[in-house]
Amino acid sequence: MNLQENNLGVSAVQRRRRRFHALQLLVMLLAAGARVQAASPIPQLVQTGSHFRLMVDGHPFLILGGQTHNSSASDPKDLEPVWDSLVALHANTAEVPIYWELIEPKPGQFDFHLVDDIIDGARHHDLRLILLWFGTWKWVENSGMAYTPGWIKKDPGKYFHARDAAGQPLDNISPFCAAAEQADSQAFSALMRHIRSIDSTQHTVIMMQVENESGLEGTDRDYSPEANRAYQSEVPARLMSYLTDHRSDLAPALAAAWAGRHNPSSGTWPQVFGGLAPEAFTAWYVARYINAVAAAGQAVYPLPMYCNAWPISPGEVRAGDWPSGTPTPHVLDVWKAAAPHIAVLAPDIYSARFRRIAAEYTRPDNPLLIVETSFAPSHAPFVFSALAEFNGIGFSPFGIDRAVEHGRLNPGAAALAGSYQVLEPLLPLIEKFQYTGRLFSIVQGADKAETISLGHELAAVADFGPAFRFGPPRPNAAQAAPAGGIIIELAPDDYVVAGYGFSLVFRELQGPPRSPQFLSIEEGTFQGSNWVRRRLLNGDERHVDFRQGPRILRVRLVKSHQRPERPNS
Ligand code: DGJ
Repeated sequence: MNLQENNLGVSAVQRRRRRFHALQLLVMLLAAGARVQAASPIPQLVQTGSHFRLMVDGHPFLILGGQTHNSSASDPKDLEPVWDSLVALHANTAEVPIYWELIEPKPGQFDFHLVDDIIDGARHHDLRLILLWFGTWKWVENSGMAYTPGWIKKDPGKYFHARDAAGQPLDNISPFCAAAEQADSQAFSALMRHIRSIDSTQHTVIMMQVENESGLEGTDRDYSPEANRAYQSEVPARLMSYLTDHRSDLAPALAAAWAGRHNPSSGTWPQVFGGLAPEAFTAWYVARYINAVAAAGQAVYPLPMYCNAWPISPGEVRAGDWPSGTPTPHVLDVWKAAAPHIAVLAPDIYSARFRRIAAEYTRPDNPLLIVETSFAPSHAPFVFSALAEFNGIGFSPFGIDRAVEHGRLNPGAAALAGSYQVLEPLLPLIEKFQYTGRLFSIVQGADKAETISLGHELAAVADFGPAFRFGPPRPNAAQAAPAGGIIIELAPDDYVVAGYGFSLVFRELQGPPRSPQFLSIEEGTFQGSNWVRRRLLNGDERHVDFRQGPRILRVRLVKSHQRPERPNS
């Protein structure tokens, strides 16, 4: 069966989800009745050496997510299409903003009814949630403080703004404003208290994003009097000792800036960082502020927290073109030193240089988490790369609100739905094989074919052939999507291959140049760790071929050293 056929039938998916939901509810009620329901631990990001696992209800969890448009969470009606879209996409997590201006319309007076609606909606659709705290920082057209409440905006004396190099105030709270830091921290901790009060058993909310693409736009640093004093003061000792302790593995730009000043062990920001000083300085003070907000929230309810980064986009040349202080690759180490309460620094990747940027954020102290990427078909295959190539913990395109139109999946959303559909049953395997070197991804680039090395003895060649199109041909529909897939080595000569838009040929790397023989090619799926075979592909169908649409194959091989050579072969 071609999985794509199912893919377009939204109601079937919804029915399946609802059945699952009803079953889940029944199990919960029985368990509660029998007083056997053991409390599961709060979601956690567990680090073992340089390996990371997001644990939800005590089990590893990989995020197949989608983020709403910015305003969708201000009216629960606007969330209905969001839930339907996420279900049809086979997503397991929704990313939804919470607006400071709406939850605290007057100082100290909180209104959480929207938060309740969001959590209810997610539960009803069997989705987990990542809530995005739009507080002091969420850039919107020349303003970084668009989501602060009116009483903050109207009182620039108390909640003072950052200034540009000419001394002019910006529409941006200064990271040196202690009153704003305290107000934001109080609001965020009230939010976390509320989440704890309604979700500490069910754990619908699994992570919190603290602020959104923070930083100062239109200036390389804050030039307020407070900031100027700090800039000419000593770099804090905590950052200096971080640099010394991590000297050999600092990100290249920061290492080069420090080396350019002959690695001083103390000094003012310009003395220690030279040309990178304004960005490093801003990163430190923005990160320090956000760390205080996160710490206040975690003191109440310690969910894992992360910050997302505005990506440096083509044409941007210096801090201020991108919000200065946002966690760019230049200043990741500054953030790590300043913000221990922020577990992950997550790049928003909209550009075609996905893998390059992903590599910069995948570090022994930082797992890859993609909380924003393009919802265009061009970016769907990167989910395979994020989870398999980079051992990432999640992937989430932005603006998925209208993936379903008139009860059907929009053709532009089919590539993501196809990707998530084949990944959904494979998640337990992917969790098991991350960091083992036994996961491989296929992402179609400019070339006609791609070679994937599967070790010393075997390679696979993905052939991209003619452009693959999702769904029945429709005039003018932007359906063409690059191919994407994953290979999982279950055991030697035993592979699961899933994806769309390519065919795969295995090649032996030892002995005579030839392909291994197929022991079997089966179409099917996984239920937990059990392979459920559907068709056995032999005869005319004996190909590892995904050009007709998304599917999962299990391929067992017999290599040449396991079988007799044919004479003259
Ligand atoms: C990045 C921001 O983080 C999002 O909130 C949203 O504004 C998108 N850009 C729009 O493309």
